[in-house]
Formats: sequence, structure tokens, C-alpha cells
Amino acid sequence: MKIVMLGAPGAGKGTQAKMIAARYEIPHISTGDIFRANIKEGTELGKKAKAFMDQGLLVPDELTLELIMDRFTKADCANGYVLDGFPRTIAQAEALTASLKAAGDALDYAIDVDVPDSAIVERMSGRRACLACGGTFHIMFNPPKVAGKCDLCGGELSIRKDDEPETVQKRLNVYHEQTQPLINYYTAAGILKSVDGTQDVNKVFDDIKDILNA
Ligand code: AP5
Ligand code: MG
Repeated sequence: MKIVMLGAPGAGKGTQAKMIAARYEIPHISTGDIFRANIKEGTELGKKAKAFMDQGLLVPDELTLELIMDRFTKADCANGYVLDGFPRTIAQAEALTASLKAAGDALDYAIDVDVPDSAIVERMSGRRACLACGGTFHIMFNPPKVAGKCDLCGGELSIRKDDEPETVQKRLNVYHEQTQPLINYYTAAGILKSVDGTQDVNKVFDDIKDILNA
């Protein structure tokens, strides 16, 4: 099963993608997590990406495609994957479609997690993330069992640098300009499904399971 998660920053793509990955035993591939891991390790790619990410801008397509396109050929992708944060521009979507097509393949679903901008800023201010394993929590809506510690690996939770309110607003603008057009792109491809992302985390997941099990 090959799935793309769509949705604004903070819509819950990562939260749901992790649940899908665990349930359907496919890898969760998040370009944001890969960039953050590179920043933490101080790689060249990380240095280049950081400047864009901290400002709430997209990392240029060239750099992103270089990072991601060979990821799909890894052995763990044999039964599919859930992509989170990629593609994020029409150019990225076209590159993905072309590479799948060359292998006689195609995506199965693009799932849009729909949340209005008004709810996003509140979510971001309460997000706490684990840099060690990518675990994501919310101080009110999805709290970790022990405050400040990741449930999954025990790592320290921190506030993401791009979760400052002004940066969140910029990321939302970038989303509407550059990423939202993918909704029409995947509607035209006949694979778009939409879920109401304002519901409780588990209810959103129930709706996604209904789509994937149909
Ligand atoms: P990325 O890491 O992908 O960030 P994003 O798209 O802005 O999305 P987020 O991770 O902020 O939100 P999410 O939808 O995953 O929500 P989450 O589940 O955490 O990208 C970061 C940056 O990297 C980009 O700005 C760009 O610079 C760069 N980048 C990455 N990919 C790129 C690409 N392909 N091309 C170019 N540049 C790229 O949930 C948010 C919070 O809400 C959490 O606290 C969570 O616990 C809580 N929550 C989740 N669901 C619910 C719910 N149903 N109810 C209440 N709270 C909830
Ligand atoms: Mg995420």
C-alpha cells in the first residue's frame, strides 16, 4: 500500500502516519524528520535545509528530491510506505508519479487531513517532539505519560524551532500557495480521500482505517 499524507502544517499528518505505519507494517517516511535528523547530525544537507526550515520556507525541490528519491528503493518499501510531508509541491508530485510509473507502479491513496488554519496555531504551541525518534505529543491533546519524556524511547521532548507563532503563520501561507494545489492534483488522479482532522486523534485514525480497509 502506497499512501501520501496531505494537510497543513500541524494537521496531524505525522501523528496519523505513525499509526498507519504501525498498523499496516509499512515504513513511515517523513522528509521533515529526515531533514531534522540531518540537522542534528550536522550534515551538509542538514546545514542547507536548516536555513529554509527555520524561516518556515520549503527546502528547494532539487535538494528534497535528491534526498528522497532513492528512499523508495530500499528493501523495507517492498510492501509500500506512508509518505508524510512529501510531495509538497506539484514538481515533487510529478517526480514521484514519474518514478513510480517507470516501475509500472502508482500510489494507492492520498489522504488529506483537513484542519482549518484557526485550529493550527493552538496545536503547534502545545506540540512537543522527540528529536531522537520523531515521536510527537501535545501537552493537552496527546500528552506523554511522563512530562518532557518520549513514551516511545524515553528521549527528551523539545519544542520545534519552527513552531514559533510567526513561523507557523508563514508555514501556513507557504502551504496554501505551494502544497494545497496537490489536493486538485490527486483528485484528478482519482485517489484523493479527505478526513476531518479536527476530531480526536483516534477518531481520525478510525476514519483513515475505514478508507484503507474499504
Ligand atoms: P514537516 O516536518 O513535514 O512539518 P509540517 O508539514 O509543517 O507538518 P508538521 O510536522 O508541523 O505537522 P503534522 O501535520 O505532522 O502534525 P503532527 O502530527 O505533528 O516539515 C518541516 C519543514 O521541513 C518544512 O517547513 C520545510 O521547510 C521542510 N520540508 C519537509 N518536507 C519537505 C518537502 N517535501 N519539500 C520541501 N521542504 C520540506 O501534529 C501537530 C500537533 O497536534 C502535535 O502536537 C500533535 O500531538 C497534535 N495533534 C495531532 N492530531 C491531533 C488531533 N486530532 N487533535 C488534537 N491534537 C492533535
Ligand atoms: Mg510532521
